[in-house]
Amino acid sequence: MPAPRNKTEDDITAEVLQRFAETPDPRLRQIMLGLVKHLHSFVKEVDLTEPEWFKAIEILTEAGRMCSDKRQEFILFSDTLGVSMVVDLISQRKPDGATESTVFGPFHRLGAPELPAGGNIATLDKAGTPTLVGGRVLDLDGKPIEGAVLDVWQAQSNGLYDSQDQSLRGLHMRGKFRTDAEGRYLVRTVRPVNYPIPSDGPVGRMLRATGRHPWRPAHIHFVVSAEGYEPVTTHIFDRTDEYLGSDAVFAVKDSLICDFVRHETSTDAAARLGIAPPFLTADFDFRLKPTIEQGATVLDAQRRLAALGAAG
Ligand SMILES: [Fe+2]
Repeated sequence: MPAPRNKTEDDITAEVLQRFAETPDPRLRQIMLGLVKHLHSFVKEVDLTEPEWFKAIEILTEAGRMCSDKRQEFILFSDTLGVSMVVDLISQRKPDGATESTVFGPFHRLGAPELPAGGNIATLDKAGTPTLVGGRVLDLDGKPIEGAVLDVWQAQSNGLYDSQDQSLRGLHMRGKFRTDAEGRYLVRTVRPVNYPIPSDGPVGRMLRATGRHPWRPAHIHFVVSAEGYEPVTTHIFDRTDEYLGSDAVFAVKDSLICDFVRHETSTDAAARLGIAPPFLTADFDFRLKPTIEQGATVLDAQRRLAALGAAG
């Protein structure tokens, strides 16, 4: 006798789970069974109505349509729902002493220029306060790592990334820096500012409808990598920012908060680079742990996303 076709919600859930139970790949099986279980129980818990279900389809469709090589609405959803940070915490458990990671965010772009130590990523930003960010890249024993690459990106002092600024073509506020024999790096930029995440799409509507603000505390993004070490995707944050306690994407970690010190008189490094006071300096050392396994990195994922966006 075939199974009866009169079904309750729980019968459907059980049948769907059973249909995925033979998935050959054990990890995919675990993910699909967990997804179905939680998705169904969510729908049942909130008694999701058909109009609400349609609304969800509409929102996801709109999010997909907004994605391009310059805009990633799904990453914004993941970030603002806190999922990115939960994934980060699960997958990036560092031993004590390694620099902590945080969200990758939607604004990284491939192809940042390689710049020498002290190279200026803010060449077009005349309004921001000149800032030198420097320090060392070290291993867990405190030994300098020579030739580490720091992929840096930041919002302009108008609060926009290059990809959001209609007056710009091409890349701005991005660069790749390499450490010297002492593990030192030096980035010339402008003071980072706090900025609202893009709110002209479904993520913005979600934030408004739920009474949340879209602001992120001032920060600079880094992916730091070196041969033989696990790359770290992280930010450094300005200690004085008013949004440190309520970051729209939950990305602040205490160890990533940094002092941006104001100078009213020149220093050797500033004079050498032709920077007149007032300017700021920030010192931050990155510590990398040795590679344990070669896995896909966040930049590999970014390359795949960029290919999707470019094809769209
Ligand atoms: Fe950012």
